[in-house]
Amino acid sequence: MNKRVKFIYLLAFAILGFASCNSPKNKSKKSVIDQKVDSLLSVMTLEEKIGQMNLYNGFWDATGPKPKNGNAAKKYQDLKNGLVGAMLNVRGVKNVKAVQKIAVEETRLGIPLIIGFDVIHGHKTLAPIPLAEAASWDLEAIKTAARNAAVEASAEGINWTFAPMVDISRDARWGRVMEGAGEDTYLASLIAKARVEGFQGEDLSAHNTIAACAKHFAAYGFAEAGRDYNTTEVNPSTLRNTILPPFKAAKDAGVKTFMNAFNDADGIPATGSQHLQRTILKEEWGFNGFVVSDWGSIKEMIAHGYAKDNKHAAEIAAKAGSDMDMESYAYVKHLAGLVKDGKVKEAYINQAAARILKVKFELGLFDDPYKYCDEAREKEVLGSKELHAGVLDMAKKSMVLLKNSTNLLPLKKQGLNIAVIGDLADDKTSPLGSWRLAAEDNTAISVLEGLKAYPNNNITFASGPKLYTGTPTFVKETQINTTDKSGFNEAVRTARNKDVVIMVLGEHGFQSGEGRSRVDLGLPSFQQQLLEAVYEVNKNIVLVLMNGRPLTINWADANIPSILEAWQLGTQSGNAIAQVLYGDYNPSGKLPMTFPKHVGQVPIYYNHKSTGRPKTSDHDANTVFWSHYGDISNDPLYEFGYGLSYTTFTYDNLKLSAKSCNKKGNIKVTFTLKNSGNYRGKEVVQLYIQDLYASIIRPVKELKGFKIVDLKAGESKKVSFTIDAKTLEFYSANNKWEAEVGEFKVFVGGSSKTNIEDSFELTD
Ligand code: NOJ
Repeated sequence: MNKRVKFIYLLAFAILGFASCNSPKNKSKKSVIDQKVDSLLSVMTLEEKIGQMNLYNGFWDATGPKPKNGNAAKKYQDLKNGLVGAMLNVRGVKNVKAVQKIAVEETRLGIPLIIGFDVIHGHKTLAPIPLAEAASWDLEAIKTAARNAAVEASAEGINWTFAPMVDISRDARWGRVMEGAGEDTYLASLIAKARVEGFQGEDLSAHNTIAACAKHFAAYGFAEAGRDYNTTEVNPSTLRNTILPPFKAAKDAGVKTFMNAFNDADGIPATGSQHLQRTILKEEWGFNGFVVSDWGSIKEMIAHGYAKDNKHAAEIAAKAGSDMDMESYAYVKHLAGLVKDGKVKEAYINQAAARILKVKFELGLFDDPYKYCDEAREKEVLGSKELHAGVLDMAKKSMVLLKNSTNLLPLKKQGLNIAVIGDLADDKTSPLGSWRLAAEDNTAISVLEGLKAYPNNNITFASGPKLYTGTPTFVKETQINTTDKSGFNEAVRTARNKDVVIMVLGEHGFQSGEGRSRVDLGLPSFQQQLLEAVYEVNKNIVLVLMNGRPLTINWADANIPSILEAWQLGTQSGNAIAQVLYGDYNPSGKLPMTFPKHVGQVPIYYNHKSTGRPKTSDHDANTVFWSHYGDISNDPLYEFGYGLSYTTFTYDNLKLSAKSCNKKGNIKVTFTLKNSGNYRGKEVVQLYIQDLYASIIRPVKELKGFKIVDLKAGESKKVSFTIDAKTLEFYSANNKWEAEVGEFKVFVGGSSKTNIEDSFELTD
């Protein structure tokens, strides 16, 4: 920090610090950091405070020549004038140091910048996409994956990630389902906590921890018709019971920032919603970090038809409690004028700037603004062996075995003639998935490379038609190949007379993600045709799926003997897949999101409410007057919580410790889990309840607990869960969280379809 600046700041701190020491009231209330924030605010001009609320995208080669004109020059000037509080998309120690140096050494007060980046699933060394990680149900592993991502990103100068995305997603058409934890509020809440704890670590001021950001607040995952950025309709009960709990879990885990959302909810853009940001988040929940807008979401309120112009948008957003403006230029241009005109209270500016400064203090940026800028560490940490080992472990835990009806898997390690088919089999980019801004193309281990690490089988590869044309960077839907069938016949020929065919099919890495909504959930390009043609010549097919969302693979499910869901597993993808195919790792993942049979069924999710006309045995076989489709069953292809293993598990002896309990008591649920197959394996045992009648209709099943149980072949273990009033709470018609007396069903099993059940009563 430059000496003059430090002097002003220290002087202010000394005076205010002294004053507060003499005031017993303040002393007991304010933390040291809050006192420092107050001191700093006291010497800041209105413009400087508003500057803290301004987040700019990286705008020039920071180490290169200064920009002379255009937007970049303007941003550069703003930075020098202390009108920028944070920057995103600047990475690499040299670059971060360069911008930080301007903020610290050239501005009047020398306040350091926060450096943000989308560290979504790893950084340069990529872990599986978040939806895949969620399929592990392994909270420790997920936390470690976030921890590792923070270690790598912070070594590149970054101290703030725009993750975790904790939006509940029930519609596979929405491309961003890949970025979340799926459809279940309970599972997603625990994962939100694990990710926040992983990124932020135990000490946010350490050089290898980064501030996390719970996004997108709120209801973004409910985009109508699965079309990204679309409007949402959410009633207060769904908002409270389904959408908000993962955000609350992130808040309770100490998340430092929230990001608001592009969508409107019931006619109010989330970015302009006082109800969400001020009333619920800040007042009701007591969140004391800051809220950042999504990219341009303040000015997008004009397109929404909610703000007249950018000035009006700034006024709405600031009043609503959106503390930092990402790339709308609304605050930096208009807020000072709005305060001077009496349109926005100066207190709002003080509060927003204070929240941002507080996070800067907590990160330790005032003690050492260059703490993330160590070139030696950057060199040592980026792409290290330990990080590769971490993403490999996470990748193995994320796979879900969907089918293995003839026990084709695991494969023998020698003597097999194997055909490997599919353009994705030697794709070294798609497995990286979407959101991989710091990773280069072609840096994943392909399936083909992974399989070659097992040298005693004979592999012949044929790509079949290309999945897309052009370069692999940011592939667009228009690049998906729908015309050139070359390679098709050769692939079919290659599959003939082989012992096993491994077909690697699915989506390109950029077919899911932001702005990547699709209405067709089938296999794109010529892949379905190829699968059927290969099946004609060889039925011993193992289908390895790579995709960022649930797919409708009914034909494959009906015909292909073995199907492994391998999502987009990141840098070590091919090694992880090969180890699972050869049985060196027994898959134990379970789906965090329902796979529909038909896109017409979406939104489809296991914890739906019951209608007044569910399917009952009373229905005459011919009646149509119940809630169903005439042309397809209501059932999904694969339900939430589903996933197989190379071994089998049986559930027995379900017992409840009592048939009723009051609100102060509890009920112990026990059962025996047996590994009834031939391999050691892990089972994610799941506990569901159903509240049979309530002041607001409750779902037909709700996940309320799970455990990962590791058993040797033939081994049994007693498993138990405890249910109490807290477990049974929901946001009721009384507008509060409470458990209501009445009857409940309890289910245990290996998926949400389980019908191993008992029941009990909750009394007052
Ligand atoms: C827009 C996305 O919605 C958000 O999730 C992301 O963090 C920002 N862009 C910054 O890249």
